[in-house]
Amino acid sequence: MPPEADERDRTFVVSLTVNGDERGGLAGARTTLADFLRHELGLTGTHVGCEHGVCGACTIILNGAAVRSCLLLAVQAAGATVETVEGLAPDGELNPLQQAFHTHHAVQCGFCTSGFLMSITAALRDGPVRTEAEARELMSGNICRCTGYAGMIVAALESSEALEATGEVAQ
Ligand code: FES
Ligand code: FES
Repeated sequence: MPPEADERDRTFVVSLTVNGDERGGLAGARTTLADFLRHELGLTGTHVGCEHGVCGACTIILNGAAVRSCLLLAVQAAGATVETVEGLAPDGELNPLQQAFHTHHAVQCGFCTSGFLMSITAALRDGPVRTEAEARELMSGNICRCTGYAGMIVAALESSEALEATGEVAQ
């Protein structure tokens, strides 16, 4: 039986871990995780483009996996561990992947950038990315209208190589 209208309009307290901090806020039953992060928690680095799972701009890491936060409800993330682009540079200093984006001019308007950074970060934790084809594959869920992808591919490969050399995992 479908929920009653007043059930759909209820507001919930959502508590979760975001970038290592315990956070909480109010979310309607139909509030997306993207909107919750941006409007309730003030984490506006997560961008919203298409709002239906196509562009990848809203990509975050949820319990270790890159996901589209426009396709999740905030209430579904209760108790989860979430990472957003703000967590890549907690002290305001670019991490190696972000620095590589800067070095290789992988940013133009920047609207897509946080989504790419989170997709690449999640992928590099799973293992190295050694070829252009692999880099293109891992970025295939993210759309950029400006850069032509070339700089992002170089940045991903360079970051992967650096991580492999040091035995580190993408932060
Ligand atoms: Fe989520 Fe486009 S805004 S995939
Ligand atoms: Fe503009 Fe990617 S830099 S959409």
